[in-house]
Amino acid sequence: MTGILAVTGLAVSFPHERGRVRVVDGVDLRVDAGEAVAHVGESGCGKSVTALSILRLVPKPGRIEQGRVELEGRDVLGLPVAEMRALRGRHAAMIFQEPMTSLNPVMTAGAQVVEAIRLHDRIGFAEARRRTLALFEEVGIPDPSARFDAYPHQLSGGMKQRVMIAMALSMKPRLLIADEPTTALDVTIQAQILELMRDLRERFGTAILLITHDLGVVNELADRVVVMYAGKVAEEGTRTEVLSSPRHPYTQGLLRSMPARANPGERLREIPGVVPSAGTWPSGCRFRPRCDRAFEACVADPPETRFGPTARVFCFAAARDEVKP
Ligand SMILES: Nc1ncnc2c1ncn2[C@@H]1O[C@H](COP(=O)(O)OP(=O)(O)OP(=O)(O)O)[C@@H](O)[C@H]1O
Ligand SMILES: [Mg+2]
Repeated sequence: MTGILAVTGLAVSFPHERGRVRVVDGVDLRVDAGEAVAHVGESGCGKSVTALSILRLVPKPGRIEQGRVELEGRDVLGLPVAEMRALRGRHAAMIFQEPMTSLNPVMTAGAQVVEAIRLHDRIGFAEARRRTLALFEEVGIPDPSARFDAYPHQLSGGMKQRVMIAMALSMKPRLLIADEPTTALDVTIQAQILELMRDLRERFGTAILLITHDLGVVNELADRVVVMYAGKVAEEGTRTEVLSSPRHPYTQGLLRSMPARANPGERLREIPGVVPSAGTWPSGCRFRPRCDRAFEACVADPPETRFGPTARVFCFAAARDEVKP
């Protein structure tokens, strides 16, 4: 498999009361060509910050402290700003939860996509408009030429998200990063947007990194799942490995009492206790205070245990299970 995205040892900090805190702390993440990877974990675990780091969009005063991000072999963090801009869109594009805040309210939907296209391609307005209308068609926007001239407030949430996806696709990116793209939408529209992403992946081979709280979405779209807790990866594996035989007590907690086949709209179940806020994480395993399987060893940093070719888990209890006959 060819690597599209390879994140290694990523650490990102934000200032908190007692100095800078690494809210993402040594994260490794990989997405191969055409693959869909789901990124899950409770609120505040660092999923969005990780995704923003890939395109160097972490807002100030956030700072990437350490690590390497490679998009199709290019070292993203070392690139000059101008080259980074060129890379955004062409190699990877991002869509967000709130399409309203990502669209400019005083420009028509069409004009924004035209502008995005012309930022990268030296083509005239007429040609860019033609491409935009074709993209609108592609993402299932009915009556594209009428929607082209509509302002964001004249469009429904689902239509706005489709415009965002059209904009993201205008550069034919090899990787689409989607940060909870359906959370703000109602259930039927969620299903349609999901179907659209699946379709785009099949037709264009677009790899997808999808951040979601929705287990049904994971089940329907993901080849691989990365579970994050308190700024670190807890567990990773194929969809079946993680959903059917989770090894980390955190993943087990997330999935416990979930029906074998979750439906879209079904949220990950909460685990007793809350994610401690950044900077108040315990030493060693950060899940330890909430873990029903914690023992003495867990005061140290959990080692990586590999299971088969792709699955890995950071947990002393899971490692101990492994050596038992
Ligand atoms: N702009 C910011 N200023 C200060 N701290 C921030 C900022 N953005 C994120 N953080 C810190 O980083 C941590 C991780 O945030 P992030 O948004 O990545 O979480 P998340 O996993 O995406 O959560 P959610 O599921 O709620 O979207 C937060 O708990 C917060 O402490
Ligand atoms: Mg987030």
